[in-house]
Amino acid sequence: MTDRDELLNAAISVKERAHAPYSGFRVGAALEADDGTVYSGCNVENASYGLTICAETAAVTAAVSAGRVSFRRIALSSDAASPVAPCGACRQVLAEFAPRLPIVSETGGTVREWTLDRLLPEAFQLAHGEEAQEESKS
Ligand code: THU
Repeated sequence: MTDRDELLNAAISVKERAHAPYSGFRVGAALEADDGTVYSGCNVENASYGLTICAETAAVTAAVSAGRVSFRRIALSSDAASPVAPCGACRQVLAEFAPRLPIVSETGGTVREWTLDRLLPEAFQLAHGEEAQEESKS
């Protein structure tokens, strides 16, 4: 099990790689898989602003690409005045794999913690087939 501070340090470290020339707002994310491996991601902005990739989504993409789909915790670090919570889109991306994921976030040494189910209650789930038909009846 990766220590909380160790995971935060991984987030602080990858934040240095953020590509954020437009917002100037750097974010680092470190996602711990169930085998203890840590996958990192930073925000990657684009001149076409809407194409920006958030740090959390970058970390999930790295982990899933490496074959990991079960996670213990995510750590975040940013340049904000107070610790940031993941944006709405990233909450949905994280919920795909870990609906109750513990989240720890720091900025300048101040730390906050949440769980994903608190930040995204009633996350979207795709119901299909017989399940969807049953639901449409009720
Ligand atoms: N950003 C993240 O990387 N994660 C979040 O959860 C919120 C926002 C990035 C996107 C953009 O590059 C910058 O922060 C400002 O919005």
